Amino acid sequence: MKIGILTSGGDCPGINATIRGVCKCALNHYGMEVYGIHNGFRGLMDGHVNRLTEESTSGLLTLGGTILGTSREKPFKKTSTSLNNKPSLIIKTLEEYGIDCLVCIGGNGTQKTAAKLMEVGINVVSIPKTIDNDVWGTDFSFGFDSAVSIAADAIDRLHSTASSHQRVMVIEVMGHKAGWLALYSGMAGGGDIILMPEIPFDIHRIGDTIISRLKKGKPYSIVVVAEGINTPEGKKAAQYIAEEIEYETGFETRETVLGYIQRGGSPTAFDRNLATLMGGHAVELISKGQYGRMVALQGNKIDSIPLTETAGKLRLVTEDHELVVNGRKMGICFG
Ligand code: F6P
Repeated sequence: MKIGILTSGGDCPGINATIRGVCKCALNHYGMEVYGIHNGFRGLMDGHVNRLTEESTSGLLTLGGTILGTSREKPFKKTSTSLNNKPSLIIKTLEEYGIDCLVCIGGNGTQKTAAKLMEVGINVVSIPKTIDNDVWGTDFSFGFDSAVSIAADAIDRLHSTASSHQRVMVIEVMGHKAGWLALYSGMAGGGDIILMPEIPFDIHRIGDTIISRLKKGKPYSIVVVAEGINTPEGKKAAQYIAEEIEYETGFETRETVLGYIQRGGSPTAFDRNLATLMGGHAVELISKGQYGRMVALQGNKIDSIPLTETAGKLRLVTEDHELVVNGRKMGICFG
């Protein structure tokens, strides 16, 4: 049995731990051959493939990024100009190396592509990875916990400077169209106001929260903003919210955009174990010939769901999420 492994989409902590989990299980336990495909689906098109061994996958557990490289290449994306020959290039490479099944590690876009690969007759098993935690069908994807820790640490650090200067501090975190990262890091970091794309906000309510904190003897506030909130054309989330708060309340307001720091570096212990388990489960699925499935964490159990079920869907925060419900009871403003 020969398997290929690739990583696609934005990187995150824990990808290398997953590669390690897949390789070690496949090589040690199942006696499979493993091929690393470089730079996501692009590597399948240009034949950038190499054999992975025990040696090449050691030292990966704690390493950030992806040793295979990544890209946002979408081989099934329609091009108006030329005939799309990318799927046939992919099939050619897989045949050349005799790869029986592909392990695709990626976010939503990757799950969609993986489902399409199955449609053209390629055996695929996928593993969700993203700091956004927005892959439908899994309670958590690895990378998320690490990003939450980084963002919560940054929010912790803003508290002291906010209170010393009696300012409002607005921090923008990633998350694409989902508010998971803002919600989890905002709550863990003790944010006073947490804004997410899923919950519409009203600047007057935000202003009232800041003023009422002042009246309670707290002349500073921390506002955690997801990058995907609704803003006027061309305005970044933190910049817009900071300007509006200053106008509304007269409070001196500063903004911080955390950016790619959230995606870099070593995974947390939780993410290392999740990545390891997901990698192992993917190989188990392959060993049983259960293709066309995405590995998923459901409750405390590692399981899998059909790719057709997750492809094209987004997992978003809902107002009845326990962190939102509990946060509201504590007086945190969600918009
Ligand atoms: O999906 C992960 C993510 O980091 C998002 O949170 C962010 O919006 C996006 O990727 C950034 O993408 P890029 O790497 O293309 O700048």
